[in-house]
Order: sequence, then structure tokens, then C-alpha cells
Amino acid sequence: MSQSQSVLHLQDQTIDANKQGEALSEDLVQSKKGQDSGKKYYIETYGCQMNFNDSEIVASILAGEGFSATQSSEEADLLLINTCSIRENAEQRVRQRLKQLQPIKKQKPEAQIGVLGCMAERLKSKFLEEEKLVDLVVGPDAYRDIPSLVREAETGDKGVNVLLSREETYADINPVRLDSNGVSAFISIMRGCDNMCSFCVVPFTRGRERSRNPESIVAEAQYLVDHGYKEVTLLGQNVDSYLWFGGGPKKEYKNLTDEEKTQSVDFAGLLEKAAKVSPDLRVRFSTSHPKDITEDVMHVMNKYDNICKYIHLPVQSGNTRILNLMNRGYSREWYLDKVAKIKEIIPDCGISSDIISGFCDETEEEHQDTLSLMEKVRYDMAYMFNYSERPGTLAAKKYTDNVDKDTKKRRLQEIISLQHQHGYESNLQDIGKTFTVLVEGYSKKSNEQMRGRNSQNKMIVFPQHDFQPGDYVDVKVDECTSATLIGHAV
Ligand code: 5AD
Ligand code: SF4
Repeated sequence: MSQSQSVLHLQDQTIDANKQGEALSEDLVQSKKGQDSGKKYYIETYGCQMNFNDSEIVASILAGEGFSATQSSEEADLLLINTCSIRENAEQRVRQRLKQLQPIKKQKPEAQIGVLGCMAERLKSKFLEEEKLVDLVVGPDAYRDIPSLVREAETGDKGVNVLLSREETYADINPVRLDSNGVSAFISIMRGCDNMCSFCVVPFTRGRERSRNPESIVAEAQYLVDHGYKEVTLLGQNVDSYLWFGGGPKKEYKNLTDEEKTQSVDFAGLLEKAAKVSPDLRVRFSTSHPKDITEDVMHVMNKYDNICKYIHLPVQSGNTRILNLMNRGYSREWYLDKVAKIKEIIPDCGISSDIISGFCDETEEEHQDTLSLMEKVRYDMAYMFNYSERPGTLAAKKYTDNVDKDTKKRRLQEIISLQHQHGYESNLQDIGKTFTVLVEGYSKKSNEQMRGRNSQNKMIVFPQHDFQPGDYVDVKVDECTSATLIGHAV
């Protein structure tokens, strides 16, 4: 993931996600061969890593129905856009894209366009009534229903399913790895979010939090290892509140029955299980929540070399009053204590953050608190955003989006500049050090350079020699930019 002045976030990236080739699971290749429908789907994904992984689940469901993937939107019988609602500009981009796709529909009226994910959930049938841009509207918990919705839409009806589930985790579905480098893959370990941060639309679009059976998670990691993958990222909106006790909506540990307690697995336990799958498999996770991350998790990270020493710990704001308005459940001091604990237990841990500029009522002094917190923590990396009011959220109902655009922008620019400086300084400190890098592919700039990450999630480029994606290479850092370390294999 890259991050720069332009506030690039995974949530703002798109992939034409159809380069699946050999990554298709054998079972699915079988079922495709058995019942090839001759139909082709095209899928584009906007938003977070979770959405990308959801598209892989959708691809698996469609492959099971005999659909094959195409990278050409013109060639497709079914065009799917998996959408993001997190900020207004994410939704605007999707609307634009849906408009761009309309000529295809004119040329080929039998083609269907479907909108999936958070925007489908948020806008529901409004998409069909007001916007008339799509044939299918499918929320994040209804992907199993896509084949029957497609059939429904073929008869001229519009297919809508936006029911949120308290149980669905797609645990039994082996995702078809889209746009994969064959080295790293995502595994969703839970769905939904119960936190209700006041700015955030996710609890409304992705529903209640539920954890996935750890056995199915370990089996998926094992499957990936067996197919040559070297890195998995365990995904959840708040991985630290992962708790398996037999299935169903989230419960606190203290409210479990004795039987549920006996079979329960928390995030530290799950992380350990994932680490044990293979010492050759790197394990990452995202996203951690400052109010929930435990010392147990930090100790497990320390115990296993193959758990990457990197925590994405979004702070959102450095001011306690604003954190309260955001309903984040911690104070500035609590956050700084957590960071100190991480640095004490895992001294070489990389830490990154999400920061929102110009939340409702934020004063200049409160903005300065965010800058001063950044000075204290010195993040290796951060995703930084202007506050964008989302309809239906607690903040939209209770507070006024009253920091004017220019002030928001100026504050964001100050945050970004400071982060750039910190990122560069953090990289300078790595010069002369040697890191084990997992090779992901060629450097974006040159085919004579390879690129990969160290345990702390920093990107390192170095001369190719005979290295291949998936190799572990010890690389000594010689120089750096604010975004990248540059070195040579030793
Ligand atoms: N406005 C701006 N940023 C937001 N995020 C979530 N909701 C909003 C919003 N309404 C950011 C938070 C979160 C990240 C995924 O997106 O920083 O951690
Ligand atoms: Fe949104 Fe907060 Fe849940 Fe993250 S933890 S998805 S910011 S509500």
C-alpha cells in the first residue's frame, strides 16, 4: 500500500481483478469444467482490503456456477462493481464508473450490471429506482445469492438482496485469488463492526460483528501454503475483538457459557494458530483497535519470528475531547500508553495510523494535539483523510460538520507534511541495517530491481540477480526516500 501527499489509500485504489489464472482452487476448476455456463463476469473493486477479499469470495461463488472471468468489460455478461462508502469521494468515483459502463449495456442489452458491497447496502433499492444504472444490488452478506439474483434479473426483474446477517462469514468458501502475485493473500477472519465510531458508516453497511471459525481460517492458510503463498494478512475491522466461541453474533468473553469458554479462541490464540501453520509463512493482520489490542497479542507477536512486527493502530485524532466525540473509546493518554507498551514488548515494531483532519468542532488547538501526538509516536506510515460526513452515522445525526473546507485541507496538509518528515526520518534510521525481505515482484520503476517488504512492512528495492517472487532475501539498506528503502542483497 502506498501513501503519499496525494492521500492515496487502498480505499481509493481500483484493480481490474481478473488475473486469477493458476490461483484458481482445484475444486473450482473442477466445477467450472463440469458446468461451464459460457458466461463471463468482470469485477472491479473499490475500497479496503476487506472488499478486495470479498471480490475473491464472489469470484469463487461465480466460478462454482460456471462463470469464467474476463478482464474486458465489453466482453462480460455480468459486470460487477464492488463499492466503498467510507468517504463521499469514494462513492462519487463509483457513480462515475457506473455511468461510464452504460454504453456497454446499450450495445449488449442482455449484459447485467451489479453493484456490490457497502454502497449497495447503504443505498439499497435507491440504486434501482433513482439511479437506474444497475440491474443487481447485493449487500456484503448476500453474495451467495448472486447466482439466483442474476437469474431473476434475466427475467426482467431487478435483483436486490441487501439483508445483513448475524452469522454469515463465508467460512466454507475458498476465495479465488484475484490479481494475485502468488505470494501474499488476504484471509478475512471476521465480518462487520460493533464499534460505532461516530464518523464511520461501516457498522451500517457491513452489519454486526461476527468471528469466523478458526479451523476454517487455519485450513485456508494451509491451502495457501500448499499453493506456494508466503504471506497472509488476517483481516477484520477490529481484529483485536476476534472471539470464536462456536459461531454467531459477537459476545463478550465474560458472557460466554462454560462450554463456549472451553472452545473459545481469541485473537492472540488465532494469531498463534496461524503462525504455526508454517515457519515459512509470514503472518500479518489489520486493523488493530487501540482500545482492544492486548498484551497477549504483543507477546505472541514476539514469540514467533514469522509474525510480522508491524501494527496498524489508527489513532484518528490526538485530542481526547475529539476522540470522545468520535466515540473511539480511548483517550490520548491511553493511546500513548498502548504505543509505549508495544515499543517495550516489541522494540522493533513498525507502527502506522489513520488520521482524520477537521472532524466536527475540532479547534486549532485540538488539531495541534494531533500533530504533537504524531511527534510523540513517530509513525512509520499513516493514511490521512479529511473528515467526510456520512449520512446516517452518529456524527451526522448529532454534530455539525462545521470545520470549513479550507481549514480541513490546510490541517490535513500539515498532518501530511509532518508524516512525510517522520516517514523519511524513520527510513533514514534503517540505513546500514539488514532486513529479511519477502520478494513480491519487480520494482515498479525497473525490471532490473526487485521489490518486497521487511517485517515492519517497509518496501525495499534491490538489484534482481536471480531472485524470484516468494524468495526470502537478506537485504542491507544503503539509501532511502520517504517512501522506500533501497539496498542490496547480502
Ligand atoms: N471521513 C473521513 N475518514 C474516515 N474514515 C472512516 N470514516 C471516515 C469519514 N467519515 C477513515 C478512518 C478509518 C479509515 C479506514 O477511514 O481513519 O480508520
Ligand atoms: Fe469504522 Fe470504527 Fe468500526 Fe473501524 S472500528 S470500521 S472506524 S466503526
